[in-house]
Amino acid sequence: MFRNCTRLSARARDCFYMSRRSLSQGSGGSSRSPSLFALLATCVFSASAGYAGHYYTKSQDFASTTSLDSLKSPTYASSKSVAEAIDKIRQIVGPDSITTSPGEIDYHSKDPSNFVRPKPDEHPNCVVYPTSVEQVSEILKICHEYSVPVIPFSGGTSIEGHYIPTRQGVSLDLGRMNKILRLHEEDLDVVVQPGVDWMELNEYLSPYGLMFGPDPGPGAMIGGILATNASGTNAVKYGAAKDNVLSLTVVLADGTIVKTKNRPRKSSNGYNLTNLFIGSEGTLGVIVEATLKLHFKPQNEVIATINFKEIGNATKTVTDLFRMGISCNAVEFMDDKQMRAVCEMGAGSSDDWAPDHMLLLKVGATSKESLKELVASINSVAKKNHGFNIGIASDEEDKERIWTVRKTLLWNSLQWARKVKPNATILPTDVCVPVSRLPELITRTMTKLEAADLLATAAGHAGDGNLHVLVIFDPEQKKVAHELINEMSKLAIELEGTVSGEHGIGVSDKRELLVEELGVDTIDLMRSIKYALDKKAILNPDHIFKIDPSENRNPSDD
Ligand SMILES: Cc1cc2nc3c(=O)[nH]c(=O)nc-3n(C[C@H](O)[C@H](O)[C@H](O)COP(=O)(O)OP(=O)(O)OC[C@H]3O[C@@H](n4cnc5c(N)ncnc54)[C@H](O)[C@@H]3O)c2cc1C
Ligand SMILES: *[C@@H]1O[C@H](CO)[C@@H](O)[C@H](O)[C@H]1NC(C)=O
Ligand SMILES: *[C@@H]1O[C@H](CO)[C@@H](O)[C@H](O)[C@H]1NC(C)=O
Ligand SMILES: *[C@@H]1O[C@H](CO)[C@@H](O)[C@H](O)[C@H]1NC(C)=O
Ligand SMILES: *[C@@H]1O[C@H](CO)[C@@H](O)[C@H](O)[C@H]1NC(C)=O
Repeated sequence: MFRNCTRLSARARDCFYMSRRSLSQGSGGSSRSPSLFALLATCVFSASAGYAGHYYTKSQDFASTTSLDSLKSPTYASSKSVAEAIDKIRQIVGPDSITTSPGEIDYHSKDPSNFVRPKPDEHPNCVVYPTSVEQVSEILKICHEYSVPVIPFSGGTSIEGHYIPTRQGVSLDLGRMNKILRLHEEDLDVVVQPGVDWMELNEYLSPYGLMFGPDPGPGAMIGGILATNASGTNAVKYGAAKDNVLSLTVVLADGTIVKTKNRPRKSSNGYNLTNLFIGSEGTLGVIVEATLKLHFKPQNEVIATINFKEIGNATKTVTDLFRMGISCNAVEFMDDKQMRAVCEMGAGSSDDWAPDHMLLLKVGATSKESLKELVASINSVAKKNHGFNIGIASDEEDKERIWTVRKTLLWNSLQWARKVKPNATILPTDVCVPVSRLPELITRTMTKLEAADLLATAAGHAGDGNLHVLVIFDPEQKKVAHELINEMSKLAIELEGTVSGEHGIGVSDKRELLVEELGVDTIDLMRSIKYALDKKAILNPDHIFKIDPSENRNPSDD
């Protein structure tokens, strides 16, 4: 049966090629008319001439990529023009939707953890809170006309200086566009505005037995989640933001409103413009509406906690489980130092934790019986790999308590760090490598940090090979800390990984490291795309990669 099918389709394929060949022969393969050729040449010529309309290119020559050297520095509105633009924006949104209050200006430039600090003049001229797609479009038309920078802002939980207004301008806070517009229960999708908080979305979906996959920082909103391709503990099961979006409505730099596609699950309809905006960190357009994929909430889910004396034993447990086809809903790792911080801060309940390396697994099954089998397998794999203190939480309250500790781990570690080193600076990292390389990454990194007498905790999404090391250092250790963090990123690249698994690039040290990871040409291609969509470079300038040859912002000198 199968063989027949392939033979049939092979014949069909022959037919197909035959008809195409005869068709092209029919149109006279080599006898192309010279006039057509001339026309083509004219097209190519005028296209490249048109390209010189590019605002800041020095040369008129066409190139597929845009190198930093080929650009002039962008110029932005004078303070007089900014004031004029702000007046016009006020007329669009009304006086209650625009502010210059110092509190709000601060909130829209400094992140509460102080990871990547704005330079003294890096704050917005004003904060605007649009309430509709049309308002966003009108605001962008004005900013485009006056060359005023626009920095989209949603939940403000990003940690790489993502929303630092490097050249001032308008901080565009989408928090008031927070409506859940349409739930298509049967299609498992939902249409939302960008200011919807992912946890509130899950509360809304819960009675339907549904959920949104990604679970990044508490307080993050859909606009920011998509713009950073965020993920979280659920990614091992449901993927990152990019796997959970069907379509977007985006306002471009000049105010044009585009919808990337309809709602079907499948499509072969040209360029994937949805994906273009995922991970673009506000540099290509403002996401004003999104159609998101939904999942059924897992039934019969338990949380397993397992301690280990050696990191290699913990990661071996993860790869063993994968190879047995056991799929977990989450696979999280915390090292002994991280666990010490958790214990010392008295997070959750002291019964839950011991100061050893720990794996936290979420496992679910369709029936109670299959869950039992699953738990038994996990137990034996863990034991085989010298795991101990194996705990299984099935009570809703216990699960909630344990998981909250995991989700608020960053805050917890910050508080702990400030307790043990009151004057310390704290920097998070976000490297990601193939899972099998994770033990090497962790041990080599931690050994180096210890040798340099730096305090550090490690936690991560072990199922994805994504590691967050939090480096804690006194002012006089700053130079060596930055060096070691950069070395860690380079090690991740060496292990065929990335400098950012889920947080993004922003204006952090990773902007330089990304060039190393992807190569100059790939970054130059990103710059071409940026300038093709945003000729005046008004959208979140300087983020992800440099757009100005004379800019030399160094995150570590402050
Ligand atoms: C305690 C804590 C835990 C965290 N855990 C995780 C985790 O597990 N996984 C993870 O992935 N991240 C995590 N993060 C990081 C953070 O939550 C994510 O990066 C999140 O996606 C940011 O969303 P936001 O709404 O806060 O975006 P914002 O901080 O407001 O903005 C982020 C970027 O997106 C752009 N942007 C915002 N809205 C739009 C829009 N509508 N259109 C276009 N661009 C826009 C901004 O210009 C900016 O560049 C954590 C953070 C904290 C503080
Ligand atoms: C988003 O994240 C997923 C999973 O981490 C990755 O496969 C994908 O390449 C990322 N996409 C973008 C546009 O960054
Ligand atoms: C297009 O990109 C989106 C977002 O990254 C992704 O979810 C979708 O699967 C992609 N579609 C196709 C047809 O590749
Ligand atoms: C696991 O632990 C045992 C005993 O502590 C040790 O001998 C073994 O080498 C470890 N395995 C790995 C992969 O680290
Ligand atoms: C922290 O800094 C203050 C002010 O510079 C100093 O007086 C204090 O001794 C420092 N504390 C520690 C623990 O280093």
